[in-house]
Amino acid sequence: MPDARPASLMLRQAQHEDYDPHMSAEQPLLQVEDLSVGFATEEGRITVVEDVSFTVAAGRTVGLVGESGCGKSVTAMSIMRLQPSPPSHIDGGRILFEGTDLLALPESAMRGVRGDRIGMIFQEPMTSLNPTLSIGFQIGEVLRLHRGMTGAAAREKSIEILRLVGVGAVERRVDQYPHQLSGGLRQRVMIAMALVCNPRLLIADEPTTALDVTIQAQILELLRRLQRELGMAILLITHDLGIVAEFCDEVVVMYAGRVVERSGVRPLFASPRHPYTAGLLAAMPRLTKRGGRLVTIPGMVPPPAARGAGCSFADRCPRVLPRCRAERPPLVPHAPGHDAACWNPPP
Ligand SMILES: Nc1ncnc2c1ncn2[C@@H]1O[C@H](COP(=O)(O)OP(=O)(O)O)[C@@H](O)[C@H]1O
Ligand code: SF4
Ligand SMILES: [Mg+2]
Repeated sequence: MPDARPASLMLRQAQHEDYDPHMSAEQPLLQVEDLSVGFATEEGRITVVEDVSFTVAAGRTVGLVGESGCGKSVTAMSIMRLQPSPPSHIDGGRILFEGTDLLALPESAMRGVRGDRIGMIFQEPMTSLNPTLSIGFQIGEVLRLHRGMTGAAAREKSIEILRLVGVGAVERRVDQYPHQLSGGLRQRVMIAMALVCNPRLLIADEPTTALDVTIQAQILELLRRLQRELGMAILLITHDLGIVAEFCDEVVVMYAGRVVERSGVRPLFASPRHPYTAGLLAAMPRLTKRGGRLVTIPGMVPPPAARGAGCSFADRCPRVLPRCRAERPPLVPHAPGHDAACWNPPP
């Protein structure tokens, strides 16, 4: 297949003695295996992410969904090894990226992966952009760190990437500070910073949640176009199943720190195998049901300390059986490539 990336973006790949990509053709780009993450709190240790497993194949888009507090961000930050430690601690699992276990890398090697082979964007760009430095300088820093680029070359490259993400009047904007930009433009700058080294994986944690609907659509369209041009995979974290339906190839549904369902997008929407997913789908606003009452799932996600031995969804589940409270349902295949963790799946 011809490489569709603009020639200027095909910079040399990162090289680090501890980080040696040795992927085989069948191996997924990212493989999260039985990841467990806990926190030390005043009440003792709590587990907030438990045995989470999923894969992201090269060039694909995987949606990681679930209500607030389900462990999506902790999972994403753990992949990037950006979880504060302490208080958080990775209690188990592996995170294989291009065949290397990121959890086993020394921090110096991880710094070479972050922002280079894996890019990340967050919900609120103001927290990740430095307010005291111009955006051109901040993009230049990424290029200096990973590519050894400085001076005119870095500036030229920064301007080029800002153009690519649709920032207008770039020659002027490049010297501006984050507070001089609108929310939508700041998010474009974040995307530019995340993509300037042409990562193989972009982790986008609720990238459009803070934006109004029109800008949200523009940013998603931008990500889609960049994905086509740069050929990267995306792990898209969102609580919005409408975005998943439009944007993703596969979906991983998390509830209370665990994966409860995992499937291709079409089978998941056509026939959810977990009552939580079915509830999320029923709660999606639909144009065809205009004027209809918006269904929400009654109740709340139990906090980590209140999660018992059985299914964490039991208190909210319309299909609950006595067994559900006693025994945790394992994640098992219900159809090829379609896994769910439920004792009494929807028909
Ligand atoms: N620093 C922390 N200390 C204790 N608990 C935390 C900390 N950060 C996150 N948590 C807990 O971890 C769980 C998962 O959080 P998070 O991954 O942010 O959820 P999501 O991104 O799905 O909304 C939540 O119950 C949250 O309260
Ligand atoms: S295991 Fe039981 S409580 Fe949990 S989702 Fe399935 S039916 Fe509901
Ligand atoms: Mg989050």
